[in-house]
Amino acid sequence: MNFDQQHVIITGGSSGIGRATARLLIQRGAHVSIIARRQELLDETAAELQALRGQPEQRIRAHAADLSAWEQAREAIAALTADGFPPDVLINSAGITHPGYFEHLDLDVFRRLMDVNFFGTLHSCRAVVPLMMERGRGQIVNLSSVAGFLGVFGYTAYCATKFAVRGFSDVLRQELKPHGIHVSVVFPPDTDTPQLQYEDPFKPLETRRISGTAKTLTADQVAQAIVRGIERRQVYILPNLDTRLYFMLVNGFTGLARWILDWTIAQARRERELDAKGS
Ligand SMILES: NC(=O)c1ccc[n+]([C@@H]2O[C@H](COP(=O)([O-])OP(=O)(O)OC[C@H]3O[C@@H](n4cnc5c(N)ncnc54)[C@H](OP(=O)(O)O)[C@@H]3O)[C@@H](O)[C@H]2O)c1
Repeated sequence: MNFDQQHVIITGGSSGIGRATARLLIQRGAHVSIIARRQELLDETAAELQALRGQPEQRIRAHAADLSAWEQAREAIAALTADGFPPDVLINSAGITHPGYFEHLDLDVFRRLMDVNFFGTLHSCRAVVPLMMERGRGQIVNLSSVAGFLGVFGYTAYCATKFAVRGFSDVLRQELKPHGIHVSVVFPPDTDTPQLQYEDPFKPLETRRISGTAKTLTADQVAQAIVRGIERRQVYILPNLDTRLYFMLVNGFTGLARWILDWTIAQARRERELDAKGS
């Protein structure tokens, strides 16, 4: 994919992985829109992107919204795509975490994480998909985590949300493929961002030990993997070798299963079309 003049919407684009991805894409000639809650960080990021812009016609927009609320998500996408800027790519990077032993985690933590990580992702997809369907093209990239395919001690709340993002994205990919819309999922390992700094004091020792077995990446490294993944229309974006090895270990024959599903779906669609012609 050539990003020149493409409109990329990045949720959570004011920090960490989302912000690093925004920086890369503005340098590739894209129009970049970012969504997050804190206005100050949005303004700071917009100024940073402005300075990196290669062409004066590249548009940068920042919109404050809490994506866990459907109305705010809908309004944000509507505002950012008005005036002849339909979305070409949506990257869902907004997310939060809070590790701890299951019995110590307040129920509200589970609800809040699901609201932001899962429902936030769902809301922005819901708002963008009709616009992409109208044009018969688009790419959606949802941020899961290694904790979205591997249960990691201390992350009962977080893992549940990231497995949910993966399951949701797998089905969305199948359903949107006939409409020319491609869906990818990213599975970053620990990445040096404000989120990683936030969770550090809450991490049980067991979690620390598990995290210690894999290399921590920079946000720029993950952003590069995301951009490459979009260009190659990868389904699963696994940013480094460690992550690929973990994934192979956990999911052995996932590719074959996906191929069988795609084949079965294609057969069923053909059957449906034949039925429709016959009746
Ligand atoms: N860092 C890691 O080790 C790691 C590893 C695997 C996966 N991930 C995933 O990668 C994604 C990016 O993480 P990161 O490390 O870059 O985090 P980060 O630096 O903390 O950035 C998170 C972004 O999401 C926004 N956000 C949070 N809640 C929101 C809400 N309710 N509505 C709208 N925006 C919201 C934040 O801005 P506001 O707070 O201003 O809203 C911020 O822009 C997340 O989904 C995360 O779970 C991270």
